[in-house]
Amino acid sequence: MMKKQWWKEAVVYQIYPRSFMDSNGDGIGDLQGIISKLDYLKTLGIDVIWLSPVYQSPNDDNGYDISDYQNIMKEFGTLRDFDELLEEAHKRGIKIMMDLVVNHTSDEHIWFIQSRQSKENNPFRDYYIWRPGKPNGEPPNNWGAAFGGSAWEYDETTGEYYLHLFSKKQPDLNWENENVRQEIYNMMRWWLDKGVDGFRMDVINMISKVEGLPDGEVKLGHRYGDGSPYYFNGPKVHDYLQEMNREVLSKYDIITVGEMPGVNVEEAKLYTGQSRNELQMVFHFEHVSLGDGLYGKWSPGEWKLTELKKIFAHWQYGLAKDGWNSLYWSNHDQPRAVSRFGDDGKYRVQSAKMLATCLHMHQGTPYIYQGEEIGMTNVRFSKLSDYRDIETLNAYKELVGGGKMTHEEMMAAIYERSRDNARTPVQWSSEPNAGFTTGTPWINVNPNYTDINVEAALNDPNSIFYYYQKLIQLRKQHDIIVYGAYDLILAEDEQIYAFTRTLGEEKLLVICNFTNDTPLFELPTNITYQTHSLLISNYDVSGEDDIRSITLRPYESRVYVLK
Ligand code: NOJ
Repeated sequence: MMKKQWWKEAVVYQIYPRSFMDSNGDGIGDLQGIISKLDYLKTLGIDVIWLSPVYQSPNDDNGYDISDYQNIMKEFGTLRDFDELLEEAHKRGIKIMMDLVVNHTSDEHIWFIQSRQSKENNPFRDYYIWRPGKPNGEPPNNWGAAFGGSAWEYDETTGEYYLHLFSKKQPDLNWENENVRQEIYNMMRWWLDKGVDGFRMDVINMISKVEGLPDGEVKLGHRYGDGSPYYFNGPKVHDYLQEMNREVLSKYDIITVGEMPGVNVEEAKLYTGQSRNELQMVFHFEHVSLGDGLYGKWSPGEWKLTELKKIFAHWQYGLAKDGWNSLYWSNHDQPRAVSRFGDDGKYRVQSAKMLATCLHMHQGTPYIYQGEEIGMTNVRFSKLSDYRDIETLNAYKELVGGGKMTHEEMMAAIYERSRDNARTPVQWSSEPNAGFTTGTPWINVNPNYTDINVEAALNDPNSIFYYYQKLIQLRKQHDIIVYGAYDLILAEDEQIYAFTRTLGEEKLLVICNFTNDTPLFELPTNITYQTHSLLISNYDVSGEDDIRSITLRPYESRVYVLK
């Protein structure tokens, strides 16, 4: 069996503080709001909170543009509030994992303010990536930024360009510079010495850029070049992470996960392999990118269950012996799980529970995104002006403004994929503004809060909430859920995702119907057992004594223990 580790056994709950709970009526979630809901999270049973960034920030990208790593965003509270949060969480046995955003800072960070002052005799100049323009005045290369436009911004003061892979208010740090790395490690130690329990590292596989910053390929339909081959999993990324591990991470008993666009299983082994001394887990994007088209997420298309199964199986087998998986359906950058992978209409409750079963029964550490535990859904604002997300708004400008998509096509894509789907306030009750704030929320609440809310979920013994609670409890009771070996069965089935987990003499059989249809599940004959007992199911299953053939109900899922 794999080495036992507490972070393998844990369930993580992600909080996007701006949208979680507002305690002071300014319409923006805050730290006191989180403190007021710790008992709720304790009831759910989670072990770790991943806090999306709470550092000081001008909020060009809601906190992913940090202007002071050692201070709290004014709207969220103070360092005092943070210490209180940490203490109150720890009292309840809940750990806190911070978001570490160190590929870039805000352009309002003191390092960047200094950096842009002058070229010569400026110790901060080299903290960022500055280059002169081409002889014709064009940017140094053709790379596009993730949030639209060129990845380079011209700066008048010194007549050079700086690199920003995200917005122009998020200049990329220069990791080649030893001082930059030491500043970051010091900052990390400062938080760890305060008692935080780990880091989720933002786009951490983008910190090393290929020397010379070569032009990228200009793909069909695109204006800028794709620089990603020159900064995803770049030449020195493993050196940097090993150094970070040596100098910081290895000195603490913490949880670490690296967010890594474009990472594949082979690379993930290098990042998470035990003897590699880098990170514990990575977030990959393969399943959440299913159906992406010409303009990526903005041209969402169909996807097949066999494709999803292939991705999961590949990661499960790939990291079975060494390394470790993270498991997630959603986060603050993704649409709501039930809208993306289930049915947010008629079978919302059933499909949300099915998805939860499916995810939590894989091998890896599960991540629950706030509101997922009550089956919150995507939102459809009719006016573009109700959207807040920089990525969404910039993409609209570029694609509709550039004549590539019509308004209607873009709005349809936004309804499916915009990050704001995940950012509407958590629906606590049927009170005005879903009980999130007594003021005006920074982004509108989803109008379905009158039906879908925490209060209603807590009052309904059959709610999605209690189903998640049970899944989490089962994880604590059955080693096999954490450590059992995964095997895919019925790989070719387009409706049912079924797999087994094996530990010693015991097996789990996991069956999930991903459709509103009633397909027949037939157990492969090579799976033999003496007894079977139901562990959890999202429908009533009584007196079922033959599991070799089951007609599944819409979005039905069942887990059996076979002995
Ligand atoms: C990934 C984060 O999850 C996302 O929200 C952010 O916009 C980018 N990295 C840039 O920091």
